[in-house]
Amino acid sequence: MALIAELTHRCPMRCPYCSNPIELQRARQELGTDQWLRVISQAADAGCMQIHFTGGEPLVRRDLETLVAAAAECSLYSNLITSGIGLDRTRLPALVSSGLEHVQVSFQHSERDLAEHLGGYRDALSKKMAAANLVREYGLPLTINFVVHRQNIRHASDMIALAISLDAQRIEIANVQFYGWALRNRSALIPTRDELKELDEIVSSARIRLRGEITIDYVAPDYYAERPKACMDGWGRRTLVISPSGYVLPCHAAHSIAGMHFENVRDGATIAEIWKSSQSFNQYRGTEWMLEPCRSCDHRERDWGGCRCQAFALTGDAAKTDPACALSAHHARLNQIGEKDASSQTAAFVYRQFSGMR
Ligand code: SF4
Ligand code: FES
Repeated sequence: MALIAELTHRCPMRCPYCSNPIELQRARQELGTDQWLRVISQAADAGCMQIHFTGGEPLVRRDLETLVAAAAECSLYSNLITSGIGLDRTRLPALVSSGLEHVQVSFQHSERDLAEHLGGYRDALSKKMAAANLVREYGLPLTINFVVHRQNIRHASDMIALAISLDAQRIEIANVQFYGWALRNRSALIPTRDELKELDEIVSSARIRLRGEITIDYVAPDYYAERPKACMDGWGRRTLVISPSGYVLPCHAAHSIAGMHFENVRDGATIAEIWKSSQSFNQYRGTEWMLEPCRSCDHRERDWGGCRCQAFALTGDAAKTDPACALSAHHARLNQIGEKDASSQTAAFVYRQFSGMR
C-alpha cells in the first residue's frame, strides 16, 4: 500500500519526543537522487499506491520536487510530512506543479512561547501557520498533526481550534510513542491517567461536534493500554519504510531490534524481491511466528501481537507479546513505568542536536 520515504534525518526542529533513532544517519550517507528515483519506480512496479515523503525534514532535500514528479509519473499518491519550516512561496508551488497531492504539518503547541520551547526552534508557530495557510491557498488537502504529552496535553482543545482555524481536513492527535530519542525524555513527557482521560473526552466530543467536517484520528498511548495498537497494521503487511541511507525496513524503528539484518537498496535486490522474500520482512509477518499468548488469541489478526520494536525494547525479545497487552507477562511493569514517570517532577528536556550532521 504505502512507501514511507525517509529522505533525511536532518531537521531544523529539535523535538524531545522525536521517534527517530538515537544514532541518526548523516547527510553524506543519504541516498542520491538517482537511487531514490529507482526506488520510487520499483515501488510502483511492486504495486505500491502511496508515497509519504518524510524525515527528518524532507524539505532540506533540494531534489524533493524531482522525487515528487517521479512519484506522480508512476501514479503514486504523494504526501509530504513536514515541520512546515521551509515550505514557502518558492517550494510549495514547485511541489504542487510536480504533482504533490497532500501535506501534513506538525505542530507542537497552539501558543507561541510553548511551541518554541517544545520544538526547540525560534518562532516555530508563526512559520508553521504560514506554511499551513499556504497549503490551503494552493488548494491541497491539509492534515495538522499534534504530538501530545504531559507538557501540552491540557491544551488539546486549543490545538483542535487552531487546526480548524487553519482549515485542516484532518487532525491527527498522537500520543508520544516512546521509541528512539523519545525514550530518553519519557519522564518529562508521559501524561498521567487523569490527563489522558480528559484528552479522551475532548477528542470524543470534538469528533461528535465536527462529524462530516473534519476527520480526527487519535493515536492512544501504550503505557496505560489494555490492548496494543496494530503497529504498522502488521509487520510487512501494508507498508515499507526506506531509511535515509537506503535500508528497507518494515517500520521506522526496526533497526532498534538488535541482531536483525535489513536489506539495503544499494545492494541490488529490487523492492518487490525484498518485500516478498527477505528474511527481515518475513520474520514477523502474519501469525506463524507468534508465541503464546498471541498464538491462540482471537485478536491475533487484529493487532498482530502489537509492536515488535516495543516488545524488544521492553522484554529483550521482539517475538514476545507487546507489553501494552494486558495478557503480556510484562504488562504490569509497563503500567508501573508509566505511572512512575508520569508522577516525576521532571520538566527539562534532552533536545536533539543536529548541528554537524554532514
Ligand atoms: Fe493481541 Fe497478542 Fe494481546 Fe492477543 S495476546 S490481544 S494477539 S497482543
Ligand atoms: Fe517497529 Fe512497532 S515501531 S513494529
